[in-house]
Amino acid sequence: MLSDKSSGGLPVHIGFIMDGNGRWAVKRGLPRKLGHREGAQAFRKIARYCKKIGIKYVTFYAFSTENWKRPKEEVDELMRLFREYLDEVEDYARENTRLFFLGDKSAFDGDMARKMADMEEKSAGFDGMTLMLAMNYGGRDDIVHSVRKIAEMAANKEIRISDIDESLVSSLLYTGGIPDVDLLIRPSGEKRISNFLIWQSAYAEYYFTDTLWPDFSPKELDKALEDFASRKRRFGGV
Ligand code: IPE
Ligand code: IPE
Ligand code: MG
Repeated sequence: MLSDKSSGGLPVHIGFIMDGNGRWAVKRGLPRKLGHREGAQAFRKIARYCKKIGIKYVTFYAFSTENWKRPKEEVDELMRLFREYLDEVEDYARENTRLFFLGDKSAFDGDMARKMADMEEKSAGFDGMTLMLAMNYGGRDDIVHSVRKIAEMAANKEIRISDIDESLVSSLLYTGGIPDVDLLIRPSGEKRISNFLIWQSAYAEYYFTDTLWPDFSPKELDKALEDFASRKRRFGGV
């Protein structure tokens, strides 16, 4: 779904690639896991700030389908951290924030996956802000997931091949019903998308900064928003 915001103003949907935790720690002679802890603090701060300034949709990339390749100790530490996140995001639910997880939950331990589904259900009616956590998320996996559902519908004769269009593919992504990303922020100096919302960022504005995620502050977000507001979005038009 393309956002109707053509230029200026606040983005409707911001995506954050929370990158640079490891380097933040290594620079200080600390173990990488402390960088992830510090990154979780930045997530808390930025999520609250987005709500305060009136952002409607915000997605945080917390763990990619590729991040399972990391050493077991690091993956285990990240899973421990996610359990803590889950305890906290329950607080957001009390603040009229709708919670949503993007990615295949079945890769997580049963209790964790249940908790995620439970929180989505409990917060479904909230309309203050929609907070999405991309966990075990990959943009390609997202598209495959949508295509599988479409194939199933076609096999069951619920749709004809000619019914397959962009809006059908979009609606069956993990983000079904959520507006596309307007502003995509990647800290840490890397200039790549790393399999984040690839379909949904087709017309996103990108903001790159060398700041490492644990140091990413509301002030830096203000800078990104200012930059965003100054851009002219054309969506292929003139
Ligand atoms: C992002 O920080 C966190 C995850 C990918 C889970 P990194 O761990 O990738 O930090 P760097 O890129 O190694 O500094
Ligand atoms: C992207 O960061 C994934 C998340 C922040 C969750 P990575 O650190 O995994 O990305 P690459 O490997 O540098 O592309
Ligand atoms: Mg990284």
